[in-house]
Order: sequence, then structure tokens, then C-alpha cells
Amino acid sequence: MHDGSGRIAVQNLTKQFGAVTAVQNLSFTVEPGSVTGFLGPNGAGKTTTLRMLLGLVTPTAGTATINGRRHHELGNPARVVGSVLDNGSFHPKRTARNHLRVYAAAIGVPDQRVDELLGLVGLAPAADRKAGDFSLGMRQRLALATALLGDPQVLVLDEPANGLDPEGIAWLRNFLRSFAAQGRTVLVSSHLLSEVEQTIDQVVIVSAGTTRYYGPLENLRQSQRPRVLVQPADAPALVTALREAGVDKVEPTADGRVTVTDSTVQQIGDIAAKAGVAVYGIEEQKADLEQLFFQLTTPQYSGAPLPGQPQGAWGGAPSQYQSQYQQPPQPYQQHPGQQYPQQPYQQNYQQPGQGPQPNQGWGGQQQ
Ligand SMILES: Nc1ncnc2c1ncn2[C@@H]1O[C@H](COP(=O)(O)OP(=O)(O)OP(=O)(O)O)[C@@H](O)[C@H]1O
Ligand SMILES: [Mg+2]
Repeated sequence: MHDGSGRIAVQNLTKQFGAVTAVQNLSFTVEPGSVTGFLGPNGAGKTTTLRMLLGLVTPTAGTATINGRRHHELGNPARVVGSVLDNGSFHPKRTARNHLRVYAAAIGVPDQRVDELLGLVGLAPAADRKAGDFSLGMRQRLALATALLGDPQVLVLDEPANGLDPEGIAWLRNFLRSFAAQGRTVLVSSHLLSEVEQTIDQVVIVSAGTTRYYGPLENLRQSQRPRVLVQPADAPALVTALREAGVDKVEPTADGRVTVTDSTVQQIGDIAAKAGVAVYGIEEQKADLEQLFFQLTTPQYSGAPLPGQPQGAWGGAPSQYQSQYQQPPQPYQQHPGQQYPQQPYQQNYQQPGQGPQPNQGWGGQQQ
């Protein structure tokens, strides 16, 4: 079943729900051996896209395929793709173990795998408790175990970190990295870039159903340009001195300070000293990825600003980095197999002989 491909291809995908365009002409690919973050604010179209990929919603136009096939064309889908879209769909009276056994039987997987997976996701101590009594994080873990039953080559997870405790998030991060390192494919959605930043290689950022950025996370990082804010005794004199020294990305601010882009604190300090301009303060400001994410997306359902709170990237007035990121970074054209060299496929992602680790709580087994 594992042919080592596991490529997800979304091409010109569109979904219209009556007057609502949930997804509009969306295209991206996810290569085996990589983790792709699918990011966007509430209502951006993430779940709808994943549902189309999993054959749960019919696209209005375009295609979403795994291994070049639509979901209904996959012979035994559970063996190809495991997914977590909704962590609440368990029979509430069924124990975690029984829930997994029912699903295992349905796809022809031996019961032994059920106990392996309960251990893997850290649910062994709760195996005989009713799923209906599980906490949100425990349901997430059970949903992940269910997705993994068929030992799939592709994992599609919608907001999997929702409800997980910090240890669970760290465990999930390591798990997804090791899953991808075996040449498998991971597509994981989130509305928080910081939540998946350490896990993903590539990012697809959507907003209002359209792609705002698609490419390696590293390119997005490199697109951040540091900005230095200087408080000089004489702003016009500093601006002149900087320009004469060839530093041309210089802007005086209304409050007598000067912002300089693409220069270092040392360069600016040296030029100011040479020109005899006293500097009372100098500060390097680096936009983090989260701020860049805000610039690339348009929250559709932003709350009203609270009294006395500055309006910023959460949907209010433009943030201080607005001018820096008017143009989204150029999308990256991916060449299959080039960016993410495939690793030899390993049949089992669990290391042989690995039992539950002591003092792990709900942390699951280590990879
Ligand atoms: N079955 C449906 N019928 C009508 N509209 C729908 C349906 N499913 C989704 N939508 C609409 O499509 C848009 C995208 O919704 P979707 O659930 O895909 O967003 P999302 O990116 O997953 O958001 P969130 O971060 O809140 O989970 C929303 O405007 C939503 O109301
Ligand atoms: Mg969603």
C-alpha cells in the first residue's frame, strides 16, 4: 500500500456554499517527507479545504488528490490517509479501547495495534474509560490514535493542538516531525502560526478562501527585514548623514525619531558619531512571524477593540509594521523531490521494544 508517494495536490479548488465562497481557486502541494502548516484566521476555509481533500465535501471546482487520486478513488482510504477533523465523534459510552477496536475491525487491522496506539498517544492509563468522559485533549489523542490505525502514509489534521496541554503539544510536534522523517506526508491546520512554527517545513496561508502565501517557512522568515528606530538630538542632521553615507531607507517620524530599514545598529551608530549627531536611544525592532501572519491575513470575524486598548494587528488600525509588509513575499515554486529529499520509507514509526516512558503523564510514547 505504501508506494512512497503520498503527495497531496490541491489544484484550483473552489467551494461555494450559497452566497459564501468558502474556498477560492486554492492551489498547493504537500510533498512526502514534509510537514505543511495550513494557516488562516477563523472562517478562512481551512476545514472546508480539508473536508474536500477527504471526500466529505464536493468541490464546486478544482481537485484535491492524494497520490494523484480523489479520496473516493483510494482503494482502502484508511491505509492511505489518516485524518482528524472533528475530535468529538466518538460513541460516548464506548471505552477508548473498544472505540479503537471497532475501527480496527472495520479496516482489517489486528487488535494488537489498538494497544500500541493507546500507548503511543499516551492514553494507555485511560484505555478502559468511556470516551464520553474524556477531556478535550484526551479526545484529540483518541482521534489521533484512530487516524493512525491504518498505518497511513498521509496525515491530515485539523487544529490538532486544540485542547492539548503543553506536554501534549510538544509530544505532537515531535511525533509529526518523526512521522514526516519517515517519508510520510503531514498537512496540519492551525490559526496560530506560533503553535506550528517549530513543526512545519512549508506553510500555506489562506485568508477569505484565497492563498496569501505558499512556500517554505524559511523564506517567510527571511522576508522579515529588521528596522532600527533611532532617537537623535537632531533628526534632519541624522537623515542627511545617513543618506550621504549611502543608507537610503531612512524615514523621519512625526515625533522626531528616525526609522532605518536594512541597516545595523552599529552602522547607524558609527555614521551618527562621525557626523557629530548625539543619539539618545537606538533600538532594533524585528517583526516576528506572527506579526507577518497578521499582515498577510484579514481577520473576517475580529472582535471590537476594547476601551483603552491600542488597536493593532488583531483587526484594528494598521500595525507599526504595516508599511514593511505591503507586498507579501513571493510564493515559492516547488520542485517535487528537490526541496524535501525523501528518506527511505520505514514501515513502523514506532521504535521496536519501546514501552511507555516513565513520568510522562499524557505525554505519549517517545518517537
Ligand atoms: N456546510 C456549510 N454551509 C455553509 N457555509 C459553510 C459550511 N461550511 C463552511 N461554511 C462557511 O465557509 C467559510 C469557511 O469555513 P471553514 O470552516 O472552512 O473555515 P476555517 O478556516 O476552518 O475556520 P476556523 O479557524 O474557524 O475553523 C465560513 O464562512 C463558513 O461559514
Ligand atoms: Mg476550521
